[in-house]
Amino acid sequence: MRDAAPQTIYLKDYKPFGWIIDDVHLTFRLHPTATRVISRIRFRPDYDVPDRPFFLHGEGLTHVSARVDGHDADLTEVAGGIEVNVPHAPFNWEAEVEINPSANTALEGLYMSGGMYCTQCEAEGFRKITWYPDRPDVMARFTVRIESDAQNTPVMLSNGNGLYYEQDSTKTPASNVSIYQDPWPKPAYLFALVAGNLIAHEDTFTTMSGKDVHLAIWVRPGDEHKCAFGMEALKKSMKWDEDIYGREYDLDEFNIVAVDDFNMGAMENKGLNIFNSSCVLASPETATDANFERIEAIIAHEYFHNWTGNRITCRDWFQLCLKEGLTVFRDQQFTADMRSAPVARISNVLALRARQFPEDQGPLSHPVRPESFQEINNFYTATVYEKGAEVIGMLKTLVGDAAYSRALDLYFERHDGDAATIEDWLKVFEDATGRDLSQFKRWYAQSGTPRVHVQEAYSGETLTLTLRQSTAPTPGQPDKAPQVIPIKIGLLNPNGDEVQPTTVLELTKAKQSFAFPGHATRPIPSILRDFSAPVILDHEIDNERRAFLLAHDTDPFNRWEAGRMLARNSLIASITDGTPPDTAYLDGLGAVLCDTGLDPAYRALMLGQPSQSELAGLLHQSGTVPDPAAIHAASEDLRQAKATAFADFLPTLYAENQTEGPFSPEAEPAGKRALANAALGLLTRLDQGATAAAQYAQADNMTQQLAALGALLDAGQGENALDAFYRQWRDDRLVIDKWFGLQVLHSKPHDTAGTARQLTGHADFDWKNPNRFRAVMGAMQMHHAGFHHGDGAAYALLADWLIRLDPVNPQTTARMSTAFQTWKRYDPQRQALIAAQLDRIAAQPGLSRDTTEMITRIRGA
Ligand code: TRP
Ligand code: ZN
Repeated sequence: MRDAAPQTIYLKDYKPFGWIIDDVHLTFRLHPTATRVISRIRFRPDYDVPDRPFFLHGEGLTHVSARVDGHDADLTEVAGGIEVNVPHAPFNWEAEVEINPSANTALEGLYMSGGMYCTQCEAEGFRKITWYPDRPDVMARFTVRIESDAQNTPVMLSNGNGLYYEQDSTKTPASNVSIYQDPWPKPAYLFALVAGNLIAHEDTFTTMSGKDVHLAIWVRPGDEHKCAFGMEALKKSMKWDEDIYGREYDLDEFNIVAVDDFNMGAMENKGLNIFNSSCVLASPETATDANFERIEAIIAHEYFHNWTGNRITCRDWFQLCLKEGLTVFRDQQFTADMRSAPVARISNVLALRARQFPEDQGPLSHPVRPESFQEINNFYTATVYEKGAEVIGMLKTLVGDAAYSRALDLYFERHDGDAATIEDWLKVFEDATGRDLSQFKRWYAQSGTPRVHVQEAYSGETLTLTLRQSTAPTPGQPDKAPQVIPIKIGLLNPNGDEVQPTTVLELTKAKQSFAFPGHATRPIPSILRDFSAPVILDHEIDNERRAFLLAHDTDPFNRWEAGRMLARNSLIASITDGTPPDTAYLDGLGAVLCDTGLDPAYRALMLGQPSQSELAGLLHQSGTVPDPAAIHAASEDLRQAKATAFADFLPTLYAENQTEGPFSPEAEPAGKRALANAALGLLTRLDQGATAAAQYAQADNMTQQLAALGALLDAGQGENALDAFYRQWRDDRLVIDKWFGLQVLHSKPHDTAGTARQLTGHADFDWKNPNRFRAVMGAMQMHHAGFHHGDGAAYALLADWLIRLDPVNPQTTARMSTAFQTWKRYDPQRQALIAAQLDRIAAQPGLSRDTTEMITRIRGA
């Protein structure tokens, strides 16, 4: 078998497989270095498809044997798999291969993590397990038999329902067998197997039709006390999907397994979700409020995939957003329902602007549904996920809530059991609503962030808004056509009363005017309420107007946005000409912070300001070359100005938002802790860390302990606490990840690379573990001024480690290389420093397909 040479795959070249599989029988004889996989599959021709060579994927397999209808198979190795001589009639395939899970550091296929066997098959990992048509449009029922020695793997799980379990203790070593059967046809990417010494945290959920489902979260001994929160989140998710989407769970059991070595967050394998332990394990002592919130969202996300992804899957990987955009949208709706909707919306927009906007405005820009790729793992992006979710939100806004529900019902009814496309998805909406969505479809095909420019005119009691849209060229797409942009707006009168409640404008042309007659006094528009479209709004209004909206907007998103724009303007002015922080902003913000009628979580978000990386992006867009040191200084100055301006009430704000009683991760106490910790950050600038030291000493939960440690580091008082923290938590991987990351995040810019380098020499820097690698290298790239320090040390350090990691784990390497995607924003010296590192990486012999594709795209034509 040869390695697949780098090759570009195109959406337009899609062809069906040509064969149908009803049932797959797999037997695994587990062994750490020599696992045998035996597959028995019945194939029958799909007579709708022209006859063509019979091809099965396979990568890194040691072939043992293969038979077609009982005879030795006539097979030829080709790039990425084998071609087999088969009859053009139904036949039985039987093959045996050997694989080495211990040597699998890429964490794709069958691998070992902390002594336990686990799998990751999305997107194309199943081909590392056995010969198979590893494509999502081939769906089959799987029966899986797992055999092993009982000592190290007493628990052996696969998809579907457990049928049989046997332990034979008369043998030495004792052996065990378990059999799982999944009644629902599925593509191979949803296959999963887990075996190891695991303990279950169990529960039961009774579905809407009265069926009992056995629930279990499986963890390594010692982690049992970190499962309760995840279990509650799972039950809430199951109930919510019944209540809101009418979707019932469809197996007798639902298993979640926590794994330490994992490339991403979690995976929705049918009936057997596998989670990065950081995305499921939590206790008050070890997890922050942000961790709890993320865990709840990811548990929901993976659970929701059972319908949007598994029952209805994707025809091919170009349709990835069909399941991911929709499932993100669903998990965002869930979070909005479980917690505060405005806070959830603002958080989602913050994440979109932090991750998706830079992607869409740089060399990696691609449509929500890409049209080509070399390595599909490189397309699990913020664009596919987060912009994909925004596109669904826009569709819902355009058709309305009732029509959205009807369309979704039709989607589940029409496509259950299908491997579907974006065309199928849009057709359902067209059929349910009678609307023509051909122009809307551009959201899936056109990349880049549209800009919407607003111009206001008022005469004869009529306010007229003239909107213009445009999208800058992106790689491969020089010309952009107008998109359908739903713009929610409301009007306020000068007293702050709403004179026009939120309504949706449909911008479909390059330029379009909307008139609002009957306003005797000039109303003040609040535009793009709830961030109703993933666009950049250009609305040149003065700071006085923004301060008015900060004080009065009835839309919580736009009220927050008004404060954000004031902060942004203040920062840009001080970066570009040293203007001191805007006192009108500080006054308006102070009033909001002291308004105890407002949710503490919302006030905590108000206290935030645009990140340094966001500021660099904005400057670049307005034609100014960003200076990371100047951006850092201005950001610090604004924080310092807040501390000084709010000095009188910060202690009260801090005290009022302390929580009492036992720790609860619920939204309300978490919001108070968020506000108290935001206040602590400012107080630390005034009291040299006294309050932080007291909080550190008293903290009985990670949210407060970590915030206090961060504040102490900022105050230059963190050394002892840092040591104490390490000693306290040295046996808890997830907490030690925080310890690594925090030191880098709170380093001074000239020392960020040095701190990171020194940490890579720490005995606990287990760089093959993605969480640990990201704790240091991810924190380094998130520290804008540190990463972009003029000496280029951080660029070189990151490149060194990417080069080292690539042969071990290409997926994580390629993902981390996106740190360089914004390189064209910066000055020629920095560009040259980065280009040198990109070239150095590209020149590595045997560089993975994953990293090659990313570096090539980042480097640009
Ligand atoms: N489908 C997963 C999700 O969105 C993500 C995923 C894709 C993944 N590829 C992966 C997770 C590889 C882990 C490893 O929930
Ligand atoms: Zn997903």
